[in-house]
Amino acid sequence: MKFFIDTANIDQIREMQELGIIDGVTTNPSLLSKEGAEPIEQLEKICEIVDGPISAEVVGLTTEEMVKEARDLSKIAPNIVIKIPMTKDGIKAVKILEKEGIKTNVTLVFSQNQVLIAAKAGASYISPFIGRLMDNGQNEIDMLRESMEIINAYGFKSEIIVASIRNARHVIEAARIGSHIATIPFAVLEKMFKHPRTDEGLDAFLKDWEKLQDKLKNQ
Ligand code: G3P
Repeated sequence: MKFFIDTANIDQIREMQELGIIDGVTTNPSLLSKEGAEPIEQLEKICEIVDGPISAEVVGLTTEEMVKEARDLSKIAPNIVIKIPMTKDGIKAVKILEKEGIKTNVTLVFSQNQVLIAAKAGASYISPFIGRLMDNGQNEIDMLRESMEIINAYGFKSEIIVASIRNARHVIEAARIGSHIATIPFAVLEKMFKHPRTDEGLDAFLKDWEKLQDKLKNQ
């Protein structure tokens, strides 16, 4: 399973990249806006840190606008993937861009039918927003499981990026289902490392070790 980090924050990306567990990055207009920097420059910096797929989202709403923006964004670096919203115009843009060799990530996906349409359009990646589905009172895990069943049943080339992850359990569920990728916020990645028994255990080992050293010194 590949791990992407869902942020546009350079420090967070660098920290997780140094741990060697990050295969890619996803951004969106909200995440870039949070950083306050010029978006193209920020994306360039991100591409210098991680050489896996880096998603950058279009903001135009028509096919024409999306395709033009995507062509410009794809010049930032060869690993840029274009996030396209799950709309009729978006799906038309996906077809055009994939034909040109520009990889797309269909975003704002909330249903199995949307997954099927995006896969048929030939998207390289599809991003179901499971946290927002959960917020809406819907069963996000069933949606993900059925989406993976659809992708696997027909051998679609699209990879599922589990997005809008809210907690560490979401990552476990995504892995159990066999999702290709999880794009994980920094805070959730931090939580995945932690277990109170690890800290307690380490503390106890070190204390016992010190005791032994004192004992040997006083012999
Ligand atoms: O990758 C999509 C993600 O950024 C959306 O997450 O937390 O805004 O629902 P969230």
